[in-house]
Amino acid sequence: MFKYDFTTYSQKGTEDLGKRFSGALKPGTEIAMYGDLGSGKTAFTRGALRGLGFEGNVSSPTFAIVNEYRGGRLDAAHFDMYRISSEDDLYGTGFYDYLDGSMVLFMEWCENIPFAVDDSAVKVIFERGEGNVRYIRIEAPEELSVW
Ligand SMILES: Nc1ncnc2c1ncn2[C@@H]1O[C@H](COP(=O)(O)OP(=O)(O)OP(=O)(O)O)[C@@H](O)[C@H]1O
Ligand SMILES: [Mg+2]
Repeated sequence: MFKYDFTTYSQKGTEDLGKRFSGALKPGTEIAMYGDLGSGKTAFTRGALRGLGFEGNVSSPTFAIVNEYRGGRLDAAHFDMYRISSEDDLYGTGFYDYLDGSMVLFMEWCENIPFAVDDSAVKVIFERGEGNVRYIRIEAPEELSVW
């Protein structure tokens, strides 16, 4: 396991971190994100999607559960598991159809779906500090080439 620790001081700082991280993404990479409301999961995802070449709006798919981003360097799907608590719920989102290894998967609120997080996933753990401070730890099963 390779661990990378960062501290950011603004939303842009977290987006820039995500952008840099995107250079390590491959088809099928799963990014399992953990951390409270407002801790920066969507900001990080937005930066990573920018890095893959998407310029439009990126927000938490809280009601849609999943948003797809196609046509960049890699296709990506962004899940918000905030309202998911069982395997049945997750099945209902179509999540399992996304596991064919073709897309990058960003998943917020993986606390709610421990049963669905693969050992090969990259984990990103977000913690809020004072004010705009965010502590971000990335745990990857393989070394990430971008740092
Ligand atoms: N260092 C920082 N990094 C990221 N966001 C920050 C930072 N400092 C302040 N913010 C603010 O915190 C909020 C982070 O929102 P974001 O949507 O990324 O959180 P989230 O973890 O996805 O929350 P949710 O669980 O509600 O989806 C934004 O309002 C952003 O402007
Ligand atoms: Mg979010």
